Amino acid sequence: MQLPAGFAITPMRENELGILGEWAAAEGWNPGHSDLAIAWQTDPQAFVALREGDRLAGGGSIYSYDGLFGFMGLFIMRADLRRQGLGATLWHWRQDTLLQRLRSGATIGMDGVFNMVPFYERGGFKPAYRDLRYQGIAAGRRSPRVVSLAPAEFGDIEAYDKAFFPVPRTAFLRGWLSQDGARVTGIREGGKLVAYGVARPCRVGFKIGPLFADRADLATDVLSDLAARIAGRQVQIDIPEPNSAGLAISKALGLAMSFGCVRLYHGPDPGLPVDRIFGVTSLEFG
Ligand SMILES: CC(C)(COP(=O)(O)OP(=O)(O)OC[C@H]1O[C@@H](n2cnc3c(N)ncnc32)[C@H](O)[C@@H]1OP(=O)(O)O)[C@@H](O)C(=O)NCCC(=O)NCCS
Repeated sequence: MQLPAGFAITPMRENELGILGEWAAAEGWNPGHSDLAIAWQTDPQAFVALREGDRLAGGGSIYSYDGLFGFMGLFIMRADLRRQGLGATLWHWRQDTLLQRLRSGATIGMDGVFNMVPFYERGGFKPAYRDLRYQGIAAGRRSPRVVSLAPAEFGDIEAYDKAFFPVPRTAFLRGWLSQDGARVTGIREGGKLVAYGVARPCRVGFKIGPLFADRADLATDVLSDLAARIAGRQVQIDIPEPNSAGLAISKALGLAMSFGCVRLYHGPDPGLPVDRIFGVTSLEFG
């Protein structure tokens, strides 16, 4: 569809990130305080605006991990402009632009709300599995084997993280781990990292992501220990549904399903080890 007169798609301005964040909050997505800023700092071309004159009419992100893997998120139209075909035009523009930003053959991922999946499938995306959000009031037990991970340990964390993400994500991860208010913890066995998790402050309470672990007992302790560190606050965690142990661990901690998305890929499925992914980093950036 041609955009109506007065509408244009352009890069987003940094001062519009706050509006997109407000819209995401209004959808109930509860973005982390620093999520959009970290993405902007590590890929300033990742944000796209649909404008009506000078006013934001819609937006979305097209994050590029060094051209090797892309992720689409935060697809939102201003509420008064929906169901007029504008969103579809913006979405296809974003998809085309992200493909141009990536190396030929690179995969794009996204987490789509259930009712939009047929639309994304028509755009060439294939469903992989569901990511289910579990939510509740944080209550857990500190564990002697769970330790806070310091900035100096970034190299070890990054090396461990590589097994769980389609491509290296040094800049993004550095920003994610050093954001204000983040609790970064893990377990070492024989000196080697075998699990790590991050709790970050959000509009409401905290989200936990990522939570990666070699075994379920390790994930249990990291999650419970993080919950103890943020006790009494609302906590959310997005779990790949095929990881049944992950769902059970969150349920045992008193969390209940509150929301869900479908993980979709355009291009080859990166085949992530979902049995060891107990919490997705974010539904917006992968
Ligand atoms: C999703 C959204 C951005 C679409 O924008 P829009 O301008 O309303 O979309 P369009 O009118 O261009 O329609 C685009 C497609 O989305 C589908 N669609 C839009 N809203 C829908 C709804 N509530 N339920 C089911 N399908 C919907 C349409 O069927 C259309 O597909 P088609 O043209 O192939 O039939 C907009 O509805 C929105 O901001 N929703 C809230 C945020 C959200 O859920 N974002 C998606 C996150 S994955």
